[in-house]
Amino acid sequence: MEILTTSAQETQKLGEKIGHSLIKNGKGKQATILTLSGELGSGKTTFVQGLARGLGIKKRILSPTFILSREYLLKNSIFKKLIHIDLYRLGEQNKVESLGLEEIFANPENLVVIEWPERLGLGLPKQVIRIEFKQMSETERLVSIKNLIRVT
Ligand SMILES: Nc1ncnc2c1ncn2[C@@H]1O[C@H](COP(=O)(O)OP(=O)(O)OP(=O)(O)O)[C@@H](O)[C@H]1O
Ligand SMILES: [Mg+2]
Repeated sequence: MEILTTSAQETQKLGEKIGHSLIKNGKGKQATILTLSGELGSGKTTFVQGLARGLGIKKRILSPTFILSREYLLKNSIFKKLIHIDLYRLGEQNKVESLGLEEIFANPENLVVIEWPERLGLGLPKQVIRIEFKQMSETERLVSIKNLIRVT
C-alpha cells in the first residue's frame, strides 16, 4: 500500500489511522512490530506522533534519539505499552543489549515502533510491518506499508 501525504498533519493522520487498524487487527502471539525506514526528516517521528494519538496517548511524543527508547502506557487498549525505539545513535555507548529487545518482542501486549531498524544487525521477526518514507518534495512524503493485514 502506498500513500502520498502532503503535510506533516496528513502523515500524523495516517499514523492515527494505522493505529486504529492495528487495534482492530488484534494482538499476535508476540509483540506487534512496525519498522519505520527513511532518511533523516522523512517523517518517521511525525508518523509516531499520530500513531500515539490514535492509541489515546495525550503526552507529546519526543524523539528518543539519545536514549534510544521511550515507553508509553496505554489505557483501555488491547496493547498495554507503546514502545518507541530510535536506533540512529546505536553504537559503543548505546548498546543494543541494553534495550532488552528479545523480551520486548516476546510480549504480545507490546506495540513496538522502530526508527532506523537497519542499525540492528540481527534479523527481525518476519511478520514485522514495514513502513518506508520517501521525501518527494519539501512537503510530500511517499509512505509505503508492507505486511499490514487489514487497513480499516
Ligand atoms: N508530508 C509530510 N510528512 C511528514 N513530515 C513532513 C511532511 N512535510 C513536511 N514535513 C516535516 O518534515 C519533518 C519530519 O521530521 P521527523 O522528525 O518526523 O523525521 P524523521 O524521519 O523522524 O527523522 P530522523 O531520522 O531524524 O528521526 C518535520 O519537520 C515535518 O514538519
Ligand atoms: Mg525521528
